[in-house]
Amino acid sequence: MWIFGRKGASGFSASSTAEDVTEGINGTGLTAIITGATSGIGMETTRVLALHEVHVIMAVRNTESGRSIKENILKKIPNAKVDVMELDLSSLASVRNFAAEFISSGLPLNLLINNAGVMAPPFMLSKDKIELQFATNHLGHFLLTQLLLETMKRTSHEQKKEGRIVNVSSEAHRFAYKGIYFDNLNDESSYSPIYAYGQSKLANILHAKELTRHFKENGVNLTANALHPGSIATNLLRYHNIVDGMVDWVGKYFLKNIPQGAATTCYVALHPQVKGVSGEYFMDSNIAQPNSYGKDEKLGKELWDISLTMVAP
Ligand SMILES: NC(=O)c1ccc[n+]([C@@H]2O[C@H](COP(=O)([O-])OP(=O)(O)OC[C@H]3O[C@@H](n4cnc5c(N)ncnc54)[C@H](OP(=O)(O)O)[C@@H]3O)[C@@H](O)[C@H]2O)c1
Repeated sequence: MWIFGRKGASGFSASSTAEDVTEGINGTGLTAIITGATSGIGMETTRVLALHEVHVIMAVRNTESGRSIKENILKKIPNAKVDVMELDLSSLASVRNFAAEFISSGLPLNLLINNAGVMAPPFMLSKDKIELQFATNHLGHFLLTQLLLETMKRTSHEQKKEGRIVNVSSEAHRFAYKGIYFDNLNDESSYSPIYAYGQSKLANILHAKELTRHFKENGVNLTANALHPGSIATNLLRYHNIVDGMVDWVGKYFLKNIPQGAATTCYVALHPQVKGVSGEYFMDSNIAQPNSYGKDEKLGKELWDISLTMVAP
């Protein structure tokens, strides 16, 4: 519970907000892509990065909603640099279109914030016939990252600045099936909405660790970290009306609010304390420990190889 949160080594705690953890930071000259910027944590991350003069690309599946959020941000921050681009992470074709359009814009890319997510829906397949949570939360972000890596490397080289990839994971990675069910990814009969959500969030952690291994091997000035944002009342519970109602009722006492929920993302994306830190798992704007699967290099490598095969055109 955030109300009892103590400050960690970073000097921040569960009650710190996204504005608290970025106070005094100047993001001028940085460009960020934030997925799922139309709601909850992604929307607040967009606002706070824009407040710090970062040029934010809102990568969203509902561009109408994206444009209306952009207008609201501009009313409060008239000099904000915010653009809206269409991205449906549950479609590999849409991810490819987005990346091609972004690359052809010639913009640099310093920060990639893989935030969008769906939680515990009934069994559904994506447009590519892959279980929806694995497809949206992991595979779409995996392909997006792959396609944008060259732009991030070039930007970090030209600007002589570290680029950062931030995967918004969850403590729910502890509820994954035993590791990742590679053989049963799309099997409806063994599907558990919560375990499959946990599995996709475990994949977010392993993805950041495996990216780190590649960056270190190739001497690339990029980092990749994963994080748990806290428990926050957002639209994430849209598939669970009863729980959602209870959360609305008790949430204000026990859950983080959205400015607190976006804090760890903004901290990992912008804070100088995180310079050079890669392959870590953060919580409440401090380094934390994932479970043993989240540290399993062999599992991370297997996930990487299988993901590469699954996104191959
Ligand atoms: N809230 C929590 O307590 C909590 C706890 C741990 C981890 N997290 C993680 O935090 C992240 C953000 O969640 P949130 O709480 O802010 O939830 P949210 O309010 O439901 O926001 C999720 C965002 O993801 C977008 N999205 C969903 N499917 C997409 C797709 N196929 N393509 C593109 N965008 C898509 C949604 O777009 P639409 O607006 O179009 O639906 C929305 O903008 C998620 O990764 C979640 O797993 C949240």
